[in-house]
Amino acid sequence: MRLLAHVLCFCLALVLAWADRHPAADLDRCQGLEMDAVAVNEEGIPYFFKGDHLFKGFHGKAELSNESFAELDDHHHLGHVDAAFRMHYEDSPSDHDHIFFFLDTKVFSYYQHKLEDGYPKDISEVFPGIPDHLDAAVGCPKPECDEDSVIFFKGHDVYHYNVRTKAVEAKEFKSMPNCTSAFHFMEHFYCFHGHMFSKFDPKTGEVHGKYPKEARDYFMRCSKFSDDSDPVERERCSRVHLDAITSDSAGNMYAFRGHHFLRKDEGNDTLQADTIEHAFKELHSEVDAVFSYQDHLYMIKDEHIFVYKVGEPHTHLDGYPKPVKEELGIEGPIDAAFICNDEHTAHIIKGHTMYDVDMKASPHVAGNERPISLFKSVDAALCNSEGIKVIKGNHFYHFASPMLLVAGRSLPEQHKVSLEIFGCDH
Ligand SMILES: *[C@@H]1O[C@H](CO)[C@@H](O)[C@H](O)[C@H]1NC(C)=O
Ligand SMILES: *[C@@H]1O[C@H](CO)[C@@H](O)[C@H](O)[C@H]1NC(C)=O
Ligand SMILES: *[C@@H]1O[C@H](CO)[C@@H](O)[C@H](O)[C@H]1NC(C)=O
Repeated sequence: MRLLAHVLCFCLALVLAWADRHPAADLDRCQGLEMDAVAVNEEGIPYFFKGDHLFKGFHGKAELSNESFAELDDHHHLGHVDAAFRMHYEDSPSDHDHIFFFLDTKVFSYYQHKLEDGYPKDISEVFPGIPDHLDAAVGCPKPECDEDSVIFFKGHDVYHYNVRTKAVEAKEFKSMPNCTSAFHFMEHFYCFHGHMFSKFDPKTGEVHGKYPKEARDYFMRCSKFSDDSDPVERERCSRVHLDAITSDSAGNMYAFRGHHFLRKDEGNDTLQADTIEHAFKELHSEVDAVFSYQDHLYMIKDEHIFVYKVGEPHTHLDGYPKPVKEELGIEGPIDAAFICNDEHTAHIIKGHTMYDVDMKASPHVAGNERPISLFKSVDAALCNSEGIKVIKGNHFYHFASPMLLVAGRSLPEQHKVSLEIFGCDH
């Protein structure tokens, strides 16, 4: 017994020591954190750095940064990253898609998650004329900047660094706050300061429109947002991917993200936002896929399917939720589902495979399995009289029919979800 007590004490001491060194382990970005650095990875997924932790994408927990970028620790105990950016210039293939990290006086260059030979180096060696102890950095390719450049921020000082000539131009971004991190995302430049952000013109530093805004409202998927955030504006303009989207037989559209959904009624351009908890209370939140069939919304979450009769209010059918396997003949979870117009075939997308379910057959069977070569996975899909919209991240792609989606060998034109589906122009 004494031995056991000793062992327990020892373990507890270890845990406490560990917890002491990791106060950030339970970092919650929905509390409104000030990030140290932000950069997008090779696949365009944003990485937010805070202390020795890293948040990947728009939701989910923090991980230790050294799990993804081990050497940041070897040379320097990783307290935090000062600044980070991805080099993304088609014209300089040798540096294309490298991610640079700035820690105190050092710069680290990663390519495909490996530290490049010879790094870390002094910032003054790699970026002569740029000071140590930076606050933020962001890559600015042509034509957004006149030349392929990197914009560095330290206090109120801003530098344009020409990647080709290494010339440094000091800039004055008068209307901009001091940035603690900055990034280039979906053709826009964002400066984060505290838990707010502003969109800026990379050449002049001008901020147009109503800024600053809450970073949580646009770049994170949270159940609660700032008290004064306007839910319609936030959901229209959020850069977080949708979970599901559908339009019912009357032509009303529903788009789901996290705990909220947007609704646009046929013949009315006004968008309304509501919580899923309020309108679909059995489902609570975070749906994986939704399709509509004969005045019902089929909503899939993990292994279960919920069916609502469309109306005011929507009513959940008796006997549901049921296992997806029982209702559609396929194991959940699935990624996206849609039915086109008045047809009876539900198209189910799981990973990069599409299945068809004949809704008139009994029992329902998921057949006609075929691979989709254009996407490794999708977030959501919608089919209406205009054809199919396949949504991946902040973009959607248009296909005239399910067959063309499956047969496609090159990606069609990319469209922006926030702008072209929800009319948010900023
Ligand atoms: C990351 O850092 C933690 C503590 O700082 C350490 O325990 C862990 O071994 C490190 N992991 C890697 C992969 O270096
Ligand atoms: C911005 O940075 C300058 C140093 O360059 C500092 O004097 C000033 O207090 C900072 N402003 C804010 C609001 O932090
Ligand atoms: C459109 O929808 C909004 C919000 O429900 C409503 O206030 C407005 O009256 C509707 N307009 C028309 C023309 O139906």
